[in-house]
Amino acid sequence: MAEELTIKDGTKAEKYAELLPQIKSVVADEPDSIANMANVAAMLWQTFHWWWTGFYRVVDDVLVLGPFQGPMACTRIRKGKGVCGTAWLEDKTQVVPDVDLFPGHIACSSASRSEIVVPIHNPEGQVVAVLDIDSAELATFDETDRIWLERIADLLPL
Ligand code: SME
Repeated sequence: MAEELTIKDGTKAEKYAELLPQIKSVVADEPDSIANMANVAAMLWQTFHWWWTGFYRVVDDVLVLGPFQGPMACTRIRKGKGVCGTAWLEDKTQVVPDVDLFPGHIACSSASRSEIVVPIHNPEGQVVAVLDIDSAELATFDETDRIWLERIADLLPL
């Protein structure tokens, strides 16, 4: 069952609520997953201006860097490694308030302080990519981000 949220004016929930239908319409008519990931990274970044916003795709047995907004990043992450590889292995969103306290965190950028990683599934339910967002501030992401970013991830047919 969909999780219910109270949406108050001027909050990040309101920003997500405005963004979700825009993303839906942008990806609806485009079957190419890379094009959709590129636009979703851009739309998220334009709305929230996080430090790094992007995707890693499952290619064979490794995550490979996909479309993103922000500084250059690590290109390959193995299953179970770092926050991204853990989200893939556990098939579970990772909300990390302080990256220094996450065992095995991969520091692509020393500016990153907190992070959220959301798995993305194909129609068969397998993880085929992850959405990774880094913030230069501690504790940027919470349950509100998890719920809305999972909704956005569900819009990406890969
Ligand atoms: N910090 C991530 C690596 C990817 S960068 O943040 C873009 C991790 O630990 O998996």
